[in-house]
Amino acid sequence: MPTTRFEYAILPNKAPDDQKEASLGRASEPRPQSLFRRYLISILLSIICVQGIGLVAMLAGRSCRTPQSRLYSPVQHLVDEELVVYDTSFEKDLSPFQIPSSPELDKKWDDLYNFGISRIPKHEAERLPNKTSPIPGDPGFYIAGLNVFHELHCLNMIRKALDPDYYPDSNMKTSEPSRKHISHCVDWLRNSIMCHSNTSVIVWQWNVHLNQSTSKARIPHSCKKFKPIQDWGKKNEILADYDHTIHLEDAPICCVRRAFSFSFLYSIHDAGAPLQRLFFRRIKCLNASGF
Ligand SMILES: *[C@@H]1O[C@H](CO)[C@@H](O)[C@H](O)[C@H]1NC(C)=O
Ligand SMILES: *[C@@H]1O[C@H](CO)[C@@H](O)[C@H](O)[C@H]1NC(C)=O
Ligand SMILES: *[C@@H]1O[C@H](CO)[C@@H](O)[C@H](O)[C@H]1NC(C)=O
Ligand SMILES: *[C@@H]1O[C@H](CO)[C@@H](O)[C@H](O)[C@H]1NC(C)=O
Repeated sequence: MPTTRFEYAILPNKAPDDQKEASLGRASEPRPQSLFRRYLISILLSIICVQGIGLVAMLAGRSCRTPQSRLYSPVQHLVDEELVVYDTSFEKDLSPFQIPSSPELDKKWDDLYNFGISRIPKHEAERLPNKTSPIPGDPGFYIAGLNVFHELHCLNMIRKALDPDYYPDSNMKTSEPSRKHISHCVDWLRNSIMCHSNTSVIVWQWNVHLNQSTSKARIPHSCKKFKPIQDWGKKNEILADYDHTIHLEDAPICCVRRAFSFSFLYSIHDAGAPLQRLFFRRIKCLNASGF
């Protein structure tokens, strides 16, 4: 009778061989020879299994690619987490960024990211999931922009658009480029927020003054430390102006990226293919086009 897939059947206590032996009137205990045979098979299977795991680990290590869900970043070794209770940004709990538009406020924002385009050496550029261009006049180095700095830039653009009297260039009503830029930024941040999907929990507590429970935002967040990433950005900033119109062909080849995947489960039928093809799936590398 066919059983439902993935349902496990309880194995009988005795192997069929033993049952046969018992019915033939022999000793019900398995003979040492068959015991030895069974242990030998178990041992061989274990060896094959361990070797298989080792091989997979070795191939994964050699291709030095991070799994698809964790794409390589030149700052990944700097990522560190900390618990932060940040300002609720209401009334008496304002952050230093909640001051009126002014040169002082502009400086605060600029200090967060205005070193945002970085130079990385070729061996790091080669590990990116996408091709990036060499820097004209800076042999061996490539252009890289960390997303966190782009996000901060976007939020700053939106902030300026909210105060068009102070920032007339950012007026969405009068400037078509600004309208397009803000639309891009709002959508970029929407995607970013969903991408990070931060799951720290805002709580509700009883408020005796209001006679109702109200949300309390002063909660700990598990955050990536920004400072080491900011320091990296400052240290690796592209300092010299380079000519964006120069097309250098020697972009690093990143087309042989392999990511570990369970595709071998589906490609067992492809037994003739080289072993690696059973364990690794190639990710096609498309040409960089910037954003
Ligand atoms: C919140 O976001 C940061 C940065 O993406 C992440 O490192 C952290 O794990 C997140 N915390 C929670 C609780 O999701
Ligand atoms: C709070 O609400 C309860 C029930 O509606 C009422 O009996 C009580 O007087 C209220 N207290 C204040 C301080 O408003
Ligand atoms: C990448 O660029 C090269 C030359 O610039 C071109 O020949 C090739 O078709 C491009 N590949 C893709 C996938 O766009
Ligand atoms: C970067 O790589 C991803 C994943 O392979 C691909 O979907 C995307 O189109 C590529 N983008 C560029 C600009 O090369």
